[in-house]
Amino acid sequence: MKLSGMLSKIMDNYICLRRVSLATLPEACRHRRTRRRIFPGHLASISAIFALVSCTLVSCTLTSCATPAKPTPPASMRIGVLLYRGDDTFINTVRTELEEYVKEYEQETGVKVTLDMFDGKSNQNTQNNQVDRAISLNCDALCVNIVDRFAAGVIIDKAMAAGVPVVFFNRAPVEEDMNRWEKLYYIGTEPKESAVLQGGILVDAYQKDKSALDANGDGKVSYVLLEGENNHQDSLVRTEWSIQTLKDGGVPLEKITGGIANWERTQASALMESWLEDYPGQIELVIANNDDMALGAIDAVDRAGLIGKTPKIVGIDGTPVGKEALKAGKLFGTVEADTRQFAKVMFDIAAALSLGRDPAAVADLTDGKYFWSPWSPLTS
Ligand code: GAL
Repeated sequence: MKLSGMLSKIMDNYICLRRVSLATLPEACRHRRTRRRIFPGHLASISAIFALVSCTLVSCTLTSCATPAKPTPPASMRIGVLLYRGDDTFINTVRTELEEYVKEYEQETGVKVTLDMFDGKSNQNTQNNQVDRAISLNCDALCVNIVDRFAAGVIIDKAMAAGVPVVFFNRAPVEEDMNRWEKLYYIGTEPKESAVLQGGILVDAYQKDKSALDANGDGKVSYVLLEGENNHQDSLVRTEWSIQTLKDGGVPLEKITGGIANWERTQASALMESWLEDYPGQIELVIANNDDMALGAIDAVDRAGLIGKTPKIVGIDGTPVGKEALKAGKLFGTVEADTRQFAKVMFDIAAALSLGRDPAAVADLTDGKYFWSPWSPLTS
């Protein structure tokens, strides 16, 4: 109750009191009536007002005033989602899952969610401008798949100045940047885990049947490597741990060649096409840091008409297209990210931040700010 309302209630009660017998007053008020003889005049009235103020305050405390104003959830929420490249297959899978999950969230909670999607088209300046735009649209939180993970400082400055929390995803800013503000979070997948699982698929196959990988039986598995962007945490770690796992699993390896195809199917396809020409009949295994590059290798193999003599090809991500190729027997194995959970946790954290709640209540966070989505191996 507002103060003015409270005072008017007191005055109403006072006016009313002037008309009723003092016998109806509380004990304390009646006792004070005896002092009227000593201090005639308005003492009884003053005492009565005092008693009423107390009673009114007590009654307020016990009723409406006692009920702490419950934070009513907003009827709507606006989240800016900034993608490093809108045509990246894995990122698009996450985006689709996010949109699906938001629909369910809206139905369950009645909260209207607006997702403002931005495509950075691999350009950090473009993405920085998109952050300005998202802030000017009054986004409550941002989910940022940063173009250049070493350039997070600019976005963090903008977000801090506007007081808009940021959930980075898939492309991890350096730790120093992540520690600059308590309203920064990161959702990603463990690159080492995916690589160990990818290597494990190959170790299992080799242990069951050496010729599955060593097709020409020369005692070595001759492989080529397709790598993602050279400064991406996932490329570096996946390459290292796929190979290490094969070595640890006793698979004799011989590297023919390798190249960076930046996660892209067409770039991988072009590289593989030239390797098939340069090393005819020699490639037994293609290790790709992601499914799209594995699919590019499959495209080149298909174009070369190598049916029946195809090298074994493995990827990582478990994208819908990757799983189709697995089903068709063109992809030997992949490792699937739980993109549904990835998108859900990302949104839940952004929503918690938008509502001023603690993200730790909706996600199992490492070091208070990181969430690692799990992987599972898939074979045909
Ligand atoms: C990786 C994913 C790739 C690509 C890249 C983009 O985690 O495996 O396919 O999407 O992220 O940052």
